[in-house]
Amino acid sequence: MVTDGRGVMKLGQMVRLSRRTILLAGSAWAFAGVGECNVSTQTTARPSLPIPPELRADAAGSIKLEAQTGTMRFLGDRETATYGVNGPYLGPALRLRRGETVTVQVTNSVPENITMHWHGLIIPGAADGGPHQVIAPGKSWRTQLSIDQPAATLWFHPHYYPSTAQEVIKGLAGLLIVDDEEVGRLPLPSRWGVDDIPLIIQDRRFTPDGQFFDRMNAIAVTNGYVGDIALVNGARYPEARTARGWIRLRILNGSNARGYKLSVSDNRSFYVIASDGGLLASPVELKELPIHAGERFEMLIDGRDGRAFDVVTLPVAQDIMRLPPFDGPLPLVTIRPDGADGTGRLPSSLLVLPALPRQLPPLSQELVMNMFRDTRGMMPLKRARLPEMIQSGKTDPAVVARVVNLIVSDSALSEAEQLSSNGVNRKPFSLERIDFSAARNKGLRWRISEGPDLMPHPVHIHGCQFRIISRNGKPPEPERAGWKDVAPISNGGVSEILVRFPYSASRDDPYMAHCHILEHEDSGMMAQFTVP
Ligand code: C2O
Ligand code: CU
Ligand code: CU
Repeated sequence: MVTDGRGVMKLGQMVRLSRRTILLAGSAWAFAGVGECNVSTQTTARPSLPIPPELRADAAGSIKLEAQTGTMRFLGDRETATYGVNGPYLGPALRLRRGETVTVQVTNSVPENITMHWHGLIIPGAADGGPHQVIAPGKSWRTQLSIDQPAATLWFHPHYYPSTAQEVIKGLAGLLIVDDEEVGRLPLPSRWGVDDIPLIIQDRRFTPDGQFFDRMNAIAVTNGYVGDIALVNGARYPEARTARGWIRLRILNGSNARGYKLSVSDNRSFYVIASDGGLLASPVELKELPIHAGERFEMLIDGRDGRAFDVVTLPVAQDIMRLPPFDGPLPLVTIRPDGADGTGRLPSSLLVLPALPRQLPPLSQELVMNMFRDTRGMMPLKRARLPEMIQSGKTDPAVVARVVNLIVSDSALSEAEQLSSNGVNRKPFSLERIDFSAARNKGLRWRISEGPDLMPHPVHIHGCQFRIISRNGKPPEPERAGWKDVAPISNGGVSEILVRFPYSASRDDPYMAHCHILEHEDSGMMAQFTVP
């Protein structure tokens, strides 16, 4: 990995998985003849899937991150002003091992306050990087992370209140992968960028001059960010050449608000092996997988036949998220498993997950997601006849134009209006108010629900990995029955979870519980709590 003297990676360090770099990278590589590729997708020049470089602690146990400004050409010709971590857009994939203690230094070289939060990491409040741990421009924040949790695909992103949404849109986010002995003993594909492929899925919308659209208006604080371009690792419909064999995809829905319904173009099955907080008990065979904002899944796909396939997203239930190009199956990335033979395979069982106790603890906390501005955000969509269009199943350009006009032409809310738009337990978030306290190191049963709004709310809790006990009274889907840090609810839904907080979080450094639709979070749908 290329680093300068301070261990900070230079701009433009994203490794591109091209045939050339693979050939240069390893002598073991050989390629199947061109004729053997199944050309189900066009062969015109396509961007290669950028693979975020892995970043491990140096010999002294330290990791240096720098949030910086940059530019990217997402649209081909126009330059977009971006933020990134140790690079122009997104960041490296931090790799930490269970049992390891590392010192992380985060330097803020962007012109606004940020924080850096380790989403899914089980650590004390003081190391969590929540909204209280502000890093001013030009300043650094040092913290120690002691890793003691199972192998998992986590991520990091800023958590500055109230501009997390805009900072993530510009590009501040990256993967954080925890490794451990148990996962190391399994025969899973694990060669980074070869048969272990990270996919960070995000949607974006651009202004006519090529900049990110990121306005916090009434549509945004109610519906969340509605992009019209899908990016994978910062590239538009890229292509990855991988080993021929079982391919592991580590998928992060890093979108501000959008949910996806993932599927494979030739309808082959895939096998979910891990959720937010680590491995499932055994692989779950699926053809479609809904993934909500902030969630992660790892899946294995059989690419032993060497034939190319697309990872596709299918239309979801939320009306506004079905505007084109999300009104039909949309290919996100092409995988061409036509390299040298892969070595990983699909085990029949993965891990012994602790069973949920038969005797559940009493309910100790309710979290109700509230929307106070529902009507102002939803009525215009009704007037534009969006629900009718979705019901009819036919995309009408006139309706689409009216809705897009609403999304982009409504002016930004004042800060006071923004911060009072949403809430948890009937109160908009306040940095000054601790909402509740949770017992330490005790199994707790919490209930998560929403008001009458029927919106999807992927609810995330800091300082823990939890288990979903039930969703709408039923057991969770098998792919959500393992460790989770996001509990999705929608359509008036209710989830119960079993959660435990091993570390403390003080009044000065409380944990957060919030909707991971970042526009909801930034407009009040967040609560903070202490753990003694
Ligand atoms: Cu991914 Cu509180 O955040
Ligand atoms: Cu988090
Ligand atoms: Cu929400």
